[in-house]
Amino acid sequence: MIDVEKIRKDFPILERKIRGKKLVYLDSTATSQRPRQVMEAVRRFEETKNANVARSIHTLAEEATAEYESARDKTAKFVNAAESREIIFTKNTTESLNLIMRGWGEKFIKPGDRIVTTIMEHHSNFVPWQHLAKSRGAKFEVIDIDEDGKLKEDELDKVRGAKIFAFTAASNVLGTINDAKRLCKIARDGGAVSVVDGAQSVPGMPTDVKAMGCDFLAFSGHKMLAPFGIGVLYGRRELLEAMDPFLYGSEMIKKVDVNNATWNVLPHKFEAGTPPVDEAVGLGAAIDYLNGIGMENIRKHEEGLAKRLIEKIGAMEGVRFFGPRKANERTGLLAFEVEGIHPHDVAVLLDEEGIAIRTGHHCAMPLHMRLGMPGGTNRAGTYIYNTIDEIDQLAGSLGKIRKMLKR
Ligand SMILES: Cc1ncc(COP(=O)(O)O)c(C=O)c1O
Repeated sequence: MIDVEKIRKDFPILERKIRGKKLVYLDSTATSQRPRQVMEAVRRFEETKNANVARSIHTLAEEATAEYESARDKTAKFVNAAESREIIFTKNTTESLNLIMRGWGEKFIKPGDRIVTTIMEHHSNFVPWQHLAKSRGAKFEVIDIDEDGKLKEDELDKVRGAKIFAFTAASNVLGTINDAKRLCKIARDGGAVSVVDGAQSVPGMPTDVKAMGCDFLAFSGHKMLAPFGIGVLYGRRELLEAMDPFLYGSEMIKKVDVNNATWNVLPHKFEAGTPPVDEAVGLGAAIDYLNGIGMENIRKHEEGLAKRLIEKIGAMEGVRFFGPRKANERTGLLAFEVEGIHPHDVAVLLDEEGIAIRTGHHCAMPLHMRLGMPGGTNRAGTYIYNTIDEIDQLAGSLGKIRKMLKR
């Protein structure tokens, strides 16, 4: 069990009042809050070591480079990558996925090839592949979900013979946790490169890219206690070596003359321009913090919160929730509809109570169309600092809102 009350003390923002009420932050699926330890690590870096990295040889520059590379080493260990150079720092998950689309996709996808993804994807793991298919004359195929919000077994056959299989390890709307290891094997056996969107899985459960057997994994720091502006792309070395760069210029070159340029070694080949150094330092500190709690413990905590969300919110009269019925098949979020009340009205009224949830299509329009919810849903997203009491508070407020607005 994790000590939530102790953890909460590390998050100054949780002491904030919203409209005179104690903040109940249930929007961590969009962005998590940051503990003091992360903010202090960034401030320490800025106060004592700030300099550009991998360029100058003065002491500050060497110390800054060491901090930046140490963040990469921590990230590699966190996801069990074989080597640190398989970790590329980007801005966010979206940029990581676009990097694969540009660097691998545009080089290797040919007319007539098939690219497969799923209907439960965030736009960031959907639109790049849709665009690639269009621009290369390839076919774009989408695996559907069943009534429980899981991928349809009989559609997994689409992966056989495809060039790319891009799927999310956990859905940001349904909460569904996919069996990424099995899906990567299906990709491998079918001859496809596997692209795993880990934006919702990496923050909340142990990740092991070797055991998973993925070719690529993308995730964002801001959903796992780190600052905005830092994302990660893990790629198997052979694939990264074979790819073209994504951005050109600065230190991503080995040699340039007036006619030609050659590329730096990994990971620098993919990190053109001054990288997000403070943010990487923050990510390193976030990983230390998460490791201090233990990812298995975080997973158990999220499962407990998911169970309460289903019991309290999912079971309310006039409320319909989406995704698997069992907490052990879900992350700690719940997307739901309050019958007859527009999601925006729900969110505005909850905000009056100090409760922050997300509403809208959560960057998953094709999924919302599939669910028959073109106007969007409400989503409560939990993390390590949320309590059972907060979920009960959400349930109480939703009950009041229903009574007030029921027609
Ligand atoms: C499953 C999933 N993929 C991708 C993203 C995009 O992340 P970012 O906005 O950090 O690029 C998100 C963000 O909500 C997400 O939930």
